[in-house]
Amino acid sequence: MERSLVLVKPDAVERGLSGTIISRLENTKVTLIALKMLHMDQALAERHYAPHKERSFFNDLIKFITSGPIVAAVFEGDNAVSTIRTAMGATDPAKAAAGSIRHDFGLDIEHNAVHGSDSVQTAEHEIRLFFTEAELMRYTRKQ
Ligand code: RTP
Ligand code: MG
Repeated sequence: MERSLVLVKPDAVERGLSGTIISRLENTKVTLIALKMLHMDQALAERHYAPHKERSFFNDLIKFITSGPIVAAVFEGDNAVSTIRTAMGATDPAKAAAGSIRHDFGLDIEHNAVHGSDSVQTAEHEIRLFFTEAELMRYTRKQ
């Protein structure tokens, strides 16, 4: 069983797409086990995107992800990481597959609507940045 951290990014929250994006992911049969709305501060953003610290777009990325509220969610399921990455589509919405979340709702490579963990190991680290153990629900999803 894998878990993945999903963030509905500020560009999507401000366009009223939070529910739609969470719904698209639930439709892939992964189980929603945690959900909250928050406004990321500089420190949390820098920790979450630490692997990109040396990239040219890092400062812009931090500015964007802290520019407004986000919705953070945890999904659980068999192959949750790749299932969610596939549903999200490629980083650049212009290159994302038809029917994917970024294809349908992303604006450009930075304002691309959604984040999803890129590996099981990354997911466990990212989930701990946003949620306590007590905030992760346990239940069986009925299909
Ligand atoms: P994410 O982490 O948000 O799920 O996206 P990702 O794995 O598909 O892409 P990643 O390489 O991890 O990049 C993280 C985020 O940085 C922004 N980005 N901007 N200006 C650029 O060239 C550029 N490249 C990436 C995007 O917001 C991307 O989601
Ligand atoms: Mg990434």
